[in-house]
Amino acid sequence: KARVAVLISGTGSNMAALLYASRREDCPYEIVLVASNNPEAPGLNLAAAEGVAIWSHSHKGLTRLAFDELLDEALHDHDVEFVALAGYMRLLSPDFVESWGGRTLNIHPSLLPKYKGLHTHQAALAAGDTVAGCSVHEVTAELDAGPVLAQAEVAILPGDTPETLAARVLIAEHQLYAPTLAAFVGRDRSPDYLVAKVRKVAIAMPDAE
Ligand code: GAR
Repeated sequence: KARVAVLISGTGSNMAALLYASRREDCPYEIVLVASNNPEAPGLNLAAAEGVAIWSHSHKGLTRLAFDELLDEALHDHDVEFVALAGYMRLLSPDFVESWGGRTLNIHPSLLPKYKGLHTHQAALAAGDTVAGCSVHEVTAELDAGPVLAQAEVAILPGDTPETLAARVLIAEHQLYAPTLAAFVGRDRSPDYLVAKVRKVAIAMPDAE
């Protein structure tokens, strides 16, 4: 199975969704490490309780590059092949992205390219959108701008607040991430993959259930 590290900064509910999905016999990846820039991240305790190796180090007082070098070392120590960002609230250095590019995914709580960065739900409500959602995309040097592999749409309801909408989008995130990661680690990573397979990944979702 492909060896995946999940990077978190907080709750880690997407990490948990990836982990529980990985226990299916036919899942092509396994979570070999949960790493965090926040030693207090609640998700670390969950991962440890589930028997997954954890690594954490505060980024405070370190340059971005110095922190990412420590992270990179931890990933190599665990023979990691792919990285899944899941609520990892820290920009990655260009060096890290260069090393792990093509092997790193992120989940973002909007229908990219709309609403990159933070406060996505607030932005969708303020714009009067009727549909929100989440995207899984490849990580590149530019924030939330890498090729999108899969998206799930979520209706915006009258009376939604950023919090109620976030909670509903999170449910969709939990369903979207694992099958997308599974498709990603199993694919032939030739340069024309993205153009050829983006639609296929999205269309394959219902079958994966
Ligand atoms: C998720 O909604 C994720 O999409 C978002 O943070 C939340 C983490 O929740 N990520 C970002 O905003 C990245 N910029 P979780 O820790 O329970 O998975």
